[in-house]
Amino acid sequence: MSFFYRTILRPAVFLQDSEKAHNRMISTLSRASRSRLMMSLLGNFYSSPELPTKVFDLEFPNPLGIAAGMDKNGQAVPAWQAIGFGFSEIGGVTLHEQEGNPKPRMFRATSERALVNRMGFNNIGANSVLDKLKDFKNRGLWPESPVGINLGKSKITPLKKAPEDYAGSLELLWNHADFFVINISSPNTLGLRDLQESKHLELILSLCQETNSKCAIKLGKNMKPLLVKIAPELKDSYLKDIIRLIQKFDLNGIVATNTTIQRPETKNNKSKKIFDEQGGLSGLPLKDRSTDMIRKIYKISKGKIPIIGVGGVFTADDAWEKITAGASLLQLYTGLVFEGPGIARSIISGLKKRVKEAGLNSISEAIGLNS
Ligand SMILES: Cc1cc2nc3c(=O)[nH]c(=O)nc-3n(C[C@H](O)[C@H](O)[C@H](O)COP(=O)(O)O)c2cc1C
Repeated sequence: MSFFYRTILRPAVFLQDSEKAHNRMISTLSRASRSRLMMSLLGNFYSSPELPTKVFDLEFPNPLGIAAGMDKNGQAVPAWQAIGFGFSEIGGVTLHEQEGNPKPRMFRATSERALVNRMGFNNIGANSVLDKLKDFKNRGLWPESPVGINLGKSKITPLKKAPEDYAGSLELLWNHADFFVINISSPNTLGLRDLQESKHLELILSLCQETNSKCAIKLGKNMKPLLVKIAPELKDSYLKDIIRLIQKFDLNGIVATNTTIQRPETKNNKSKKIFDEQGGLSGLPLKDRSTDMIRKIYKISKGKIPIIGVGGVFTADDAWEKITAGASLLQLYTGLVFEGPGIARSIISGLKKRVKEAGLNSISEAIGLNS
């Protein structure tokens, strides 16, 4: 199927503007998500073999999830499991609805297997996302695999009010996801990455955990896992501060990494033009940088903080590299654009083989083996 995608479907899809192609794909999956028959048909083609793992007390059918940004409004929540992913992270959702940056704002560098985007958290806002999530639940279409929500800061909210903005979205959506990711690393919202500084982050994490605890008590449930998503450029001193704060506020993990603002060398003129666009770069050129960051976090935290590794995962080898560097779970975005819907199945089948070849009993035994 992935050969069919690469040779027939992808060339047709790539004739279209990148964001238009993305929106078409999401609305197709959104329509399919409302039909049990379509979900089971997709499952027949694309479901992954079982490769279960347990991280922050949640059971995952396999360790590969769909990364934030793909399903910003939670329109296709059931579809990600149907096409073989072991979990999804919807969003970035902001407290206030926002249009994002002017178009065009998403670009393909095909020969580099990369994307550049400056979307700027375009989304329908936490309240409307909540309605969509409730609708899937009410119709009995909610997936069995975990669903996370990526929380961004609204553009209209000044940086000093960021804690209230994140905590406001968390409170609204709390009962409708299995885990939450505080995104302080998108390069496309002015000043957002400054929130990685400990003086800002301390206030955000403190208020979000307070809100988390309040919601848990109110509904008589356990607190939800809270994670922080970081940039690949993060300096060591900042990373150490973040790890310290994660431990101080008893957060559950780190997502590493978001897109990079750096650009690699390229001889390809088309790619050069794309790399000149402002925004975050994802895909193959990000792969090693994100793996290095995973290895660093694993080392500094002595393997005690679960890491979701993301950045340039296209194959089972890429996935194995990130798990053995220290990632407990993985995600991808750009890989799906270039490889098509067979990618999760192909990666999970390959990982299962690697686990067997290494003589391990489960994928979790591979975490950090090559850290
Ligand atoms: C078009 C686009 C939009 C994205 N939007 C978000 C977002 O809203 N929140 C976030 O944390 N990451 C966002 N990301 C980053 C991805 O979640 C991921 O961290 C990054 O793309 C690296 O993974 P990849 O190389 O597999 O694409 C976005 C990425 C792309 C390409």
